[in-house]
Amino acid sequence: MKKEIAPSILSANFIDLKKDLDILSESNIKYIHLDVMDGNFVPNISFGTPIIESIYKDYNEKFIFDTHLMVDNPGIFIDRFKDIGVDIFTIHYEIEKFSTDLLDKIRNKGMKVGLSINPDTNVENIFKFLDKIDLILIMSVFPGFGGQKFIETSIEKIRAVRKFIDKNNLDVIVEVDGGINFENAKSIIDAGSDILVCGTTVFKGDIKENINKLNNCINK
Ligand code: DX5
Ligand code: ZN
Repeated sequence: MKKEIAPSILSANFIDLKKDLDILSESNIKYIHLDVMDGNFVPNISFGTPIIESIYKDYNEKFIFDTHLMVDNPGIFIDRFKDIGVDIFTIHYEIEKFSTDLLDKIRNKGMKVGLSINPDTNVENIFKFLDKIDLILIMSVFPGFGGQKFIETSIEKIRAVRKFIDKNNLDVIVEVDGGINFENAKSIIDAGSDILVCGTTVFKGDIKENINKLNNCINK
């Protein structure tokens, strides 16, 4: 698969979000990454269905809506997010209510199932779920905030997941999220990731230029 950048709109300019989204759509961005935070699972609150619904109305043909739910009880949002039109619904392995039933419920609703693991979760813990999901989201920062430093041990986790997926011929996208920049993007791709979530590196400064620079880093 072509390697992609998924901008995290958590770092976008919410006073003029349409302007930022238009630049993304003119920059051949395929995925937008929507960080939904409940203030419980992570010590931060971001945005929810009103924002996602408004974006979907104008941009549903332009982007794949990649939602990252950093919430304790994501099950209560499955129907609502499907109704809005969300494409990928990613939950965290670390939530109390994690179960394979929850993964099945997302898939049965017709969304792509994503499973995210925190930096301090062993990647071996989730190997048994890889045949039930469409995307694995490896957190390279502790979730909750943009602008953090990439945790270098994530590279080994990406390699281990990539090796397991290839060995077992699984159809799972590997996405990495947090602290990704022009300097480390290529090594993260080389370790085996397909999609890089970037917030600060995309939205700080000239968005179009940043995306071009990132694409040059990862697709050279
Ligand atoms: C953190 C979010 C990330 C974050 C990425 O909880 O899941 O998507 O917004 O932002 P940067 O690229 O600035 O680390
Ligand atoms: Zn995220």
